[in-house]
Amino acid sequence: NKTNEKGTGTSERFSSSKGFILAAIGSAVGLGNMWKFPYITGENGGAAFFLLFIACLVAVGLPVLLAELAIGRAGRGSAASSFVKAGGGRIWGKLGFISVIAPFLIMTFYILVAGWTLHYAVLSFSGQMTAGVDFDAQFVKFTGSYLPLIWAFVAMLIAALVVIKGISDGIEKFNKILIPGMLVLLVILMIRSVTLPGAMEGVNFFLAPDFSKLSPEAGLVALGHAFFSLSLGMGTMITYGAFVDRNQSLGTATLAVGAGDLIYAFIAGLIIFPTTFAFGIDPSSGPGLVFVALPAAFSAMPLGWLFGGLFFILLAIAALTSLVSLLQVPVTHAMEKWNWTRNNAVWIISLLIFLVSIPSALSMGLMQINIGERNFFDYVDFFASNWLLPLGGLIVTLFAGYFWKTAAKEAGLTTKWFRIWLFMLRYVAPILMIFVFLHSTGILKF
Ligand code: PHE
Repeated sequence: NKTNEKGTGTSERFSSSKGFILAAIGSAVGLGNMWKFPYITGENGGAAFFLLFIACLVAVGLPVLLAELAIGRAGRGSAASSFVKAGGGRIWGKLGFISVIAPFLIMTFYILVAGWTLHYAVLSFSGQMTAGVDFDAQFVKFTGSYLPLIWAFVAMLIAALVVIKGISDGIEKFNKILIPGMLVLLVILMIRSVTLPGAMEGVNFFLAPDFSKLSPEAGLVALGHAFFSLSLGMGTMITYGAFVDRNQSLGTATLAVGAGDLIYAFIAGLIIFPTTFAFGIDPSSGPGLVFVALPAAFSAMPLGWLFGGLFFILLAIAALTSLVSLLQVPVTHAMEKWNWTRNNAVWIISLLIFLVSIPSALSMGLMQINIGERNFFDYVDFFASNWLLPLGGLIVTLFAGYFWKTAAKEAGLTTKWFRIWLFMLRYVAPILMIFVFLHSTGILKF
């Protein structure tokens, strides 16, 4: 069993270009697209924010995505060791370790939200999301119970069973089926949504920009989200890069992943805003938007149990395809650095993630577990997304922009595009990243 030999951390490869690109899209398209993107767009004024998000994605996200893939492929190591093996000093390996810790922490609450989506799919299909239910109370009661832990365990188990099969037999196959499957679900739900009476108002909110709603703050939120949405700063794209064939054009892959992420977010917007507007729901109702507001909408439409169920299945798939990419990061590290077998790495790390997710789950209602003014769940999200992710991204831009001598060769761009890429990595991305970091950690206030 080749995949279970010790120390074969990155000797595997994605079996095809298509498989690799679908896996990277699977990582990028996640709860960020389906759950976070709609509500932050709602909170920041709709269409103008969407345009800002696109600008950030293209100008800053894509250059960093290319840098991560290139570092991974050049180093063929973990998110930490790839920097060193690609030609950096040992200090870069230490800095890169931030991007091994970050996905671990992200997973501890990502499995919880993934679990909520599974639970809600079951609720919907079993006819328990019907008119007259107080969805707000239902959500609070559910998240404040022990049940989310069981679902989080299921989500973690599914991800573990995929990753244990390896890159091409596990992750690649999983995404090859589910990413096209998601597109089918998205299109069905989009058609349902935009044909609801009163849907046009929601379409306008999402697509007709009102630039007076923009603020510098919205810019930083958009940029931070572009990073999260492309799975940057978390070691995932470095790790996937380590398994990519030499002949793959990374420029093409970068464009495909950027386009995929954007298209899935766009369709998610065309599901959520028309639905919320058609049922008179405030689109800026925050994180509860998809678990409180949308169930109310689904319960009020014909065949709502079916559309609601499909919607939550969609969310669950989005979450699971991201989860496998996150899990692969510490697994690769443990196999390479500590010489663990793949099986041991997957089971031990998954178990640890589940254990750390327990205080997060309990802090949603069963127990008072606070760090500062946040409950444990919010704190882990805040710390990983606002501290570690921008730092991880900054390390990538600084390394590729200033310290990496073979960057030109590894990125494989034409001279003109290489110059533009380097310019973004040197002067634009790091400065903006520092602003995002200062703002999202609360050091800089407007
Ligand atoms: N990109 C994923 C999303 O949009 C989240 C994610 C971040 C996944 C970082 C992997 C790494 O939900």
